Amino acid sequence: MVDPTAPFDRNLVPPRLLSLDLDALVAEYGTPLFVYDEDHLRSRCRVYAENFGAGNVVYASKAFLCAAMARLVAEEDLSLDVATGGELHVALRAGFPSDRIVFHGNNKNSDEIAQARDSGVGCIVADSNDELDRLENLGYAGEVLVRVTPGVEAHTHEYIETGTERSKFGFSVATGAAIEAVERVAGSKALSFGGLHCHIGSQVFRLDSYAKAAAVMESVASNVEKVVGTPVPVVNVGGGLGARYLSDDPELSVAQYAEVLRDALSGRRVVVEPGRSIAASAAITIYRVGTVKSVPGVTTFIGVDGGMSDNPRPVLYGAGYEAYLPDRIEQERPLAASVVGKHCEQGDLVVPDAHLPADVRPGDLLVTPVTGAYGYSMASNYNKVPRPAVLFASAGGVRPVIRRENPDDLTRLDLD
Ligand SMILES: Cc1ncc(COP(=O)(O)O)c(C=O)c1O
Repeated sequence: MVDPTAPFDRNLVPPRLLSLDLDALVAEYGTPLFVYDEDHLRSRCRVYAENFGAGNVVYASKAFLCAAMARLVAEEDLSLDVATGGELHVALRAGFPSDRIVFHGNNKNSDEIAQARDSGVGCIVADSNDELDRLENLGYAGEVLVRVTPGVEAHTHEYIETGTERSKFGFSVATGAAIEAVERVAGSKALSFGGLHCHIGSQVFRLDSYAKAAAVMESVASNVEKVVGTPVPVVNVGGGLGARYLSDDPELSVAQYAEVLRDALSGRRVVVEPGRSIAASAAITIYRVGTVKSVPGVTTFIGVDGGMSDNPRPVLYGAGYEAYLPDRIEQERPLAASVVGKHCEQGDLVVPDAHLPADVRPGDLLVTPVTGAYGYSMASNYNKVPRPAVLFASAGGVRPVIRRENPDDLTRLDLD
């Protein structure tokens, strides 16, 4: 348990971001503002590449994608996971090599499959028999991985737990659907079987859950080799490794994760798809405090100028974050407060149980760390709030990679 009166844990922020002049940045780019440490992103990519081999790491672009991020991933020699035609479009527009793209999704439509076929997407992870029909009919020539539902609990929030029998994703191992799907792909003249895929969930802290999933995958792969008589070139075990959002969350080791997977899948080519564990810790969000309202017997509400439109994770999953005042980062934080957004929802929380210096006041900058994954990528224009700008900071300085939306962006789709 963290001492709530202790100063903020600086280890949650890449050192470069702690040393930036945030007042100068917000004077130029406004608030809310996402700032990523580009070298931190690169170092997370490299940790994965060192432990798995760059060719076996697929960055899950749903965590955070823009042209600059796609180029960074390409420069680090990783592959890219896209889950919709939109993510594919952004990746291709950024010049990401199409043969290193892995296309996911439980309901890819014909246009998306044709887009993948025509752009030379290297691999599609098939999720249903209807999709296999479409892949055959549309003549998709790349590799087809069969997504398997391993029936394993990931011990995370139910909305991001994807590998149980209740999941909408994949072919069940228990019912025999997985092996039938492999038989179908391997026996198809039109399709090329590339291996097996599973994903048990996101924000997973328990390596034993991965060990269980990998053991199931090993038994499915052996079964495929025995029953179907086809080799399994790849076992892709998805993403999901947890990120340290709170100072009392554990810091997971990618090396240990790799060891667990290699133990269970010894001798096989193991591929992983990290998203949040590459992007989350690389960024902070900077807000401006607008109101401080003390409600006796309830809490002190600290109103900031963003909220669920730039980070819906608290309202979707009850996700927790820390908060700090960058110009009083060393101070004790005796004030238990609820940092709330500006949206018309009581559930519009940014940090429901923040600890802040007692003198927090309107005009202060307030930062939430570890917001690099599923913040901007899930951002919306709810209440017609323009989406923030995104900056990349590196040794060479700070550059904007996504501009702030302006009021005209809010009407650009209106036809009348
Ligand atoms: C198939 C697949 N791969 C990878 C990921 C990335 O997960 P994370 O960002 O938790 O690493 C997801 C996330 O939902 C996913 O569905």
